[in-house]
Amino acid sequence: MRQKLQLLRLQHNTVFSRSICWTITLICYLATAIYVIHLRSLQHTVTAVPTSKLLLTNYVASIASAMKVNGIACKDLFSSSHNVVNKLNASQRHIGTPITDIEYVDLASKCSRFQKTRGYIMLSLTEEEEEFPLAYSLLVYKDLEMVERLLRAIYRPQNYYCVHVDQKSTVEFYSGMSAIVSCFPNVFLTSVRISVRWGTFSVLEPELLCMKELWRYPKWKYFINLTGQEFALKTNFELVRILKAFNGAIDVSTWRKRINFDRWNNTTPPFGIKPMKGPVHIVVHREFVNYVLNNSTAAALLKWTKSTKVPDETFFATLNANPQLGIKGTYLEPEMTVNRPYIARCKIRKWMANETCAGRYVRGVCILSTGDLPRLGKAREMFANKFFLNEDRLVIGCLEEKLFNDTRDEFIGTKYVDTSYYSQLDFVKNQVT
Ligand SMILES: *[C@@H]1O[C@H](CO)[C@@H](O)[C@H](O)[C@H]1NC(C)=O
Ligand SMILES: *[C@@H]1O[C@H](CO)[C@@H](O)[C@H](O)[C@H]1NC(C)=O
Ligand SMILES: *[C@@H]1O[C@H](CO)[C@@H](O)[C@H](O)[C@H]1NC(C)=O
Ligand SMILES: *[C@@H]1O[C@H](CO)[C@@H](O)[C@H](O)[C@H]1NC(C)=O
Ligand SMILES: *[C@@H]1O[C@H](CO)[C@@H](O)[C@H](O)[C@H]1NC(C)=O
Ligand SMILES: *[C@@H]1O[C@H](CO)[C@@H](O)[C@H](O)[C@H]1NC(C)=O
Ligand SMILES: *[C@@H]1O[C@H](CO)[C@@H](O)[C@H](O)[C@H]1NC(C)=O
Repeated sequence: MRQKLQLLRLQHNTVFSRSICWTITLICYLATAIYVIHLRSLQHTVTAVPTSKLLLTNYVASIASAMKVNGIACKDLFSSSHNVVNKLNASQRHIGTPITDIEYVDLASKCSRFQKTRGYIMLSLTEEEEEFPLAYSLLVYKDLEMVERLLRAIYRPQNYYCVHVDQKSTVEFYSGMSAIVSCFPNVFLTSVRISVRWGTFSVLEPELLCMKELWRYPKWKYFINLTGQEFALKTNFELVRILKAFNGAIDVSTWRKRINFDRWNNTTPPFGIKPMKGPVHIVVHREFVNYVLNNSTAAALLKWTKSTKVPDETFFATLNANPQLGIKGTYLEPEMTVNRPYIARCKIRKWMANETCAGRYVRGVCILSTGDLPRLGKAREMFANKFFLNEDRLVIGCLEEKLFNDTRDEFIGTKYVDTSYYSQLDFVKNQVT
């Protein structure tokens, strides 16, 4: 009992001293932000002049230090063997105080405070990122803290975020999510909410809804879809560089070997289109989204997929595997896809003999945990799927720490982003132009 009390007191003290640190940090970067915005309003071009570069550096560094996991050497966990990871005990994996869904209503009631205390990056940082906005759809259902930490990791003022809250979500979740969304002009909820059921058209529907609503914003270059149980492995700067290295290609994987023809009920798509199956995560450019929303061939294909099982695994993969449609950026060699690398997601499945999962599998998908950090730290993929915050909070803490460190180091120029791997990818070299 006494031990427990001491532990509580200890936690309380850490929280307290941390909040002092935070306050100082925050004042510092608030001042920085105001000054930078002021500087930027004076100049038309944002080429970082020495002073503003220095201020921005401090701003980014302050966020990186606020994301430091206290008392744990994340750096070692990224490089360590299983022994070190196994020595971690349960309390270390549950590091930090969970935030309940309903607490977010209060937290986000004062937006500027919310942005600051949660460490959102409220500046584009580089011209290169500013000129290459991204559009995201986020299909979310539960565990708001995980969703919010994902949003924080990918948030930049120049990007757009369409959030679909499942109709089955709790009132607390929805209220919390709405409160967060109202704090950012470029984050919005879909006008319609759908009850998403695996294997049905309802999985595809919110995606199409988001594409439609995002289309209103003219500037974004690529569309990425995410769920609330995923996390970023790359900084915004890296995503921009990788997508530029794609050179117009899209990343929609195709699994010729794993097709289950019974899903299609012995029917074939219209116009001699060859059906294809693929995983559900996509990274596609603006023209592809336009084709999906506007072209009558796409509409006919969509109508056909509606009559099949698990349509979401067919629709985009099929569009990507029919080069005769002439959709720019799609794959020229769909017959050759055996083990094509897939950049959108790191998702370890049970049937991938080659990969190991440090924790357990749920419906054949690895629930990533602290023991997977060495794999995640070296990953080429943009995002990882999937995480359960209530089972392992440390893995997210360490990924955040690395992500914000990388943001800082790329900004000051001590970390170089090498995209040669991406520009040499088969689907990049063999695309419809
Ligand atoms: C992040 O940067 C801090 C400060 O430089 C350093 O102490 C920490 O080990 C770094 N974390 C990782 C995961 O690289
Ligand atoms: C867990 O690890 C922490 C930090 O190393 C330590 O203080 C605590 O006593 C450990 N708890 C258990 C139950 O082993
Ligand atoms: C498959 O086709 C049969 C016969 O056309 C039809 O009755 C059945 O509803 C179809 N099943 C699905 C899942 O579309
Ligand atoms: C569809 O075509 C119309 C007319 O050309 C155009 O205004 C619109 O931007 C296109 N894209 C979408 C998604 O509506
Ligand atoms: C991405 O889009 C596909 C196609 O609509 C959908 O099946 C899938 O569920 C989406 N994935 C995520 C992670 O939202
Ligand atoms: C629709 O797609 C088909 C096949 O890709 C193409 O031939 C046609 O020109 C497109 N139609 C429009 C209006 O863009
Ligand atoms: C998977 O196997 C291939 C070929 O055997 C190898 O090149 C690759 O490094 C392996 N990947 C992992 C993560 O072990």
